[in-house]
Amino acid sequence: MTFNQSAAPVPGDRSADTDPVDRVIRYHLQTKHHFNRYARALGYLDWANQPDPFRRFEGAELIRFPLLNPNEEPLSPVYDAIYQRGTVGCQPLTQRTLSRFFEFALALSAWKRAGESEWALRSNPSSGNLHPTEGYVILPRTNLNLKPGLYHYAPKEHGLELRAVFSTETLEKLLAPFPSGAFLFGLTSVHWREAWKYGERAFRYCHHDVGHAIGTARIAAAALGWNMVLMDALDQNTVAMLLGTRRRDDFSEAEPEHPDCLAVLWPSGEGKDTTFPLFLNVEIVQRLVQTEWFGKANRLSREHGVQWDIIDEAVEASWKMQTEAEKLSMQPGHAQEHALSRPDPLMSHILAGQMIRQRRSAVAFDGKTSITSATFFRMLERVMPHVEMPQMARPMPWDLWPYNPAIHLMLFVHRVEGLMPGLYFLVRDRTKLTFLQQSTNSELNWDPAPGCPEDLPLYWLLEGDAKRLAAQVSCHQDIAGDSAFSFGMLADFEGTLRERGAWWYPRLFWESGLLGQVLYLEAEAAGVRATGIGCFFDDPVHEIIAVKGLSLQSLYHFTIGGAVEDRRLMTLPPYRHLSP
Ligand SMILES: Cc1cc2nc3c(=O)[nH]c(=O)nc-3n(C[C@H](O)[C@H](O)[C@H](O)COP(=O)(O)O)c2cc1C
Repeated sequence: MTFNQSAAPVPGDRSADTDPVDRVIRYHLQTKHHFNRYARALGYLDWANQPDPFRRFEGAELIRFPLLNPNEEPLSPVYDAIYQRGTVGCQPLTQRTLSRFFEFALALSAWKRAGESEWALRSNPSSGNLHPTEGYVILPRTNLNLKPGLYHYAPKEHGLELRAVFSTETLEKLLAPFPSGAFLFGLTSVHWREAWKYGERAFRYCHHDVGHAIGTARIAAAALGWNMVLMDALDQNTVAMLLGTRRRDDFSEAEPEHPDCLAVLWPSGEGKDTTFPLFLNVEIVQRLVQTEWFGKANRLSREHGVQWDIIDEAVEASWKMQTEAEKLSMQPGHAQEHALSRPDPLMSHILAGQMIRQRRSAVAFDGKTSITSATFFRMLERVMPHVEMPQMARPMPWDLWPYNPAIHLMLFVHRVEGLMPGLYFLVRDRTKLTFLQQSTNSELNWDPAPGCPEDLPLYWLLEGDAKRLAAQVSCHQDIAGDSAFSFGMLADFEGTLRERGAWWYPRLFWESGLLGQVLYLEAEAAGVRATGIGCFFDDPVHEIIAVKGLSLQSLYHFTIGGAVEDRRLMTLPPYRHLSP
């Protein structure tokens, strides 16, 4: 089929480049993989300049967290309980609970060894295991014996590096609108880490990874009974100011960090009855950062070879300038009023911490294992945000996300007992059904999937064996066809960008990564395994259902099934290098 992309600028046509939306669309088009041509990258791995996966701030004081065994306090709740609002007791903020939070969110989860090489894995997955995402926390005065200020999380040391001490009173003023005990969590990305390997497409992967890290952090908070909301009414300059990413002297020798987002966390059940802003008072932030800063960022690669200018362009075009003050504030609401999901007795023996620690990406699937339709439907229910509810009443982690969903799933069902193999579609926001039908081939079935719970908008589109097709469009990766099912995450693309602005381009990837993170853990809980798939041929995916123009674009693929272990690899404990 041919695409009508008339609304989008033609790659290379600079005349249309003044509109930020046109510019991010141009980035998107230019970084597609095609059957006959991959997005531009170096074409080989420049091992001599492989980026250091661990950022440190030299000269900043390091405060190590206690390393906790799984059977030490705070103990993990049952996995299913993190989805039953109000069932996980709220832990107070202590050195130990903060240690657990970072362990589950961003810490090392294992070392892998093959011959002479060793590499670390983390609680958060990352495209190519390159880990562009850096984590920060802003702590007010607490009884933790930590100065109020900004800290950078150092995963290899499992500790916090003190970047800046903030005035206690000014920070209290900044956090006054939020529930008591509130603190801030921030994420930045070192684009270079992904660009080193993936070239121009790297900006997409960095934002997938941000989405995954938002997910690991929200799930970590849920395991401690804490609340967390994305402060997305903030403009990006304020995020940059607070996280110190614009401090030229501190980064003079080093690869810059791109400020991504800030979230507010609070360790209590409070806050559901009140409305609070999802932004910060900029004047107070300006005062706060006039302080002493510590540390100089380490250089991650000796040399940087090719510069991918289009990434800088995408950064500039998607920069969030405005504060969405009027549009976006926390919507209060009580989940108890809605029976979201019933506890599953079959899962009562599985602990959340165990799922988080054992989560890995499958490198191969056995081409045999099937899952039951009940398991399949439960997994899909976990990614339904329930748009009919106010934000704070939505199921975790969608209570963190102050938007209605823009991502829907096109599923290749291979081995789900009780469902015929073929193509299915999960409509994550029912109000979008007509739009989705009108944006795709008019001959698709759109029948409710047989046996599917009534409140799950899962539709059957086409019957057939899609194993080869799924692998073929996923850059010929067998993992997409040898699994029980795989899927493409289709974004309501051009409409969302034109309506909400170019700053929404990264958020489409965040939403995809967040959704993927939920399913990584769901797969573990079901005794199978998942893998994110960033490499796919964009337009051949769209052609499967004849997507019209840029109405929908696939942003991320995912696959779940019976994993085959690579026995050549040895697995070692995450912090053995710190053991005495
Ligand atoms: C955004 C994203 C894209 C990924 N793309 C692929 C892919 O195309 N093929 C693949 O085999 N693995 C892919 N992975 C899996 C990563 O290689 C894996 O997360 C990384 O090696 C770390 O391993 P872990 O997930 O076991 O911690 C992707 C992961 C993410 C988060």
